[in-house]
Amino acid sequence: MKKIAIIGAGYLGRGCAQLFLNAGYQVMISNSRDKNSLSSVVSGIVGCQIGTTEEAVDFSDIVLIAIPFTQITALTADAFSKKIVIDANNYYPERDGQIEVLDTHQITTSELVAKHLRDAYVVKAFNAILAADLVKDARPKNDQNRRALPIAGDHADAKAEIIRLYDDVGYDAVDAGKLADSWRFERAKPAYCIALNKAELAAALQAAQRDKEVAHGSWRHN
Ligand SMILES: NC(=O)c1ccc[n+]([C@@H]2O[C@H](COP(=O)([O-])OP(=O)(O)OC[C@H]3O[C@@H](n4cnc5c(N)ncnc54)[C@H](OP(=O)(O)O)[C@@H]3O)[C@@H](O)[C@H]2O)c1
Repeated sequence: MKKIAIIGAGYLGRGCAQLFLNAGYQVMISNSRDKNSLSSVVSGIVGCQIGTTEEAVDFSDIVLIAIPFTQITALTADAFSKKIVIDANNYYPERDGQIEVLDTHQITTSELVAKHLRDAYVVKAFNAILAADLVKDARPKNDQNRRALPIAGDHADAKAEIIRLYDDVGYDAVDAGKLADSWRFERAKPAYCIALNKAELAAALQAAQRDKEVAHGSWRHN
C-alpha cells in the first residue's frame, strides 16, 4: 500500500490525512517546527504518523504539499527530487500578498511550485475542494453522485498515479491538461471548490476565462 507524506498539518493537510487513511494508505504528516508540536495537532487522526518534512518525504511514494503558498520557497528542493508531488496550494492575495507574475497571468501557481521543486514531478490536485468537504463528499466507485476533482500536470505517469489516488479515496477525476492550464481551477474559477460531477466539472473547466473571476462568496474560502 502506498505511503503518502503530507507537508503542512493545517486544515487541508489534516483533512487529506484522514481521507487517505480511510482508504488504507499510510500517512506521515509534517509542519515547519519540531515534530513534537504535531502530537496534539493530529491526535484525533488515528494511525497518522508524524515526522519532520525530510522524514516524511523519505518515507513516501507520493508527497502532498498543503502549506501557505508563500512558504513553498522555504522547502528544500533537493529533498523532493524524483518524487511525485501534489501541489494542493492556492494563491490568495489578501493572505499571501500580491505576486505580480500571477496577477498578470504570466504563470500558474503550480508552475511556480514546479520551478522551485525543479526535479519533482508536480501535479496540481486536491486544491479545488474545501478541507471540510474531503471526507464528507467522498463516494465509492460507480456511485451516481460521485464528485469529480480536477487535475493537471506535465508528467503523464505522475498524473495517472494521482488519478488512481483520487479514485481510491472517493473521487472521479477530470484532466485539465498541463500545469500551464491549471489556472482553469485556481481560486475564483467556476471549477473551484464547488461540488460537481464529472460532466459538470468538465464543462466548468471549459467555461473558465483567464481574466474573469466568479463572484467572490460563490465558493467558500481557502
Ligand atoms: N483549508 C482549505 O479548505 C483548503 C482547501 C484547498 C486548498 N487549500 C490550500 O492549502 C494550503 C494550506 O491551507 P490550510 O488551510 O491547510 O492552511 P493552515 O491551516 O494555515 O495550515 C498550514 C500548515 O502548513 C504548515 N507550514 C507552514 N509553513 C511550513 C513549511 N515551510 N514547511 C512545512 N509546513 C509548513 C503550518 O504549520 P507551522 O506553521 O506550525 O509549521 C500548518 O500546519 C493553502 O495554500 C490553501 O490555499 C486549503
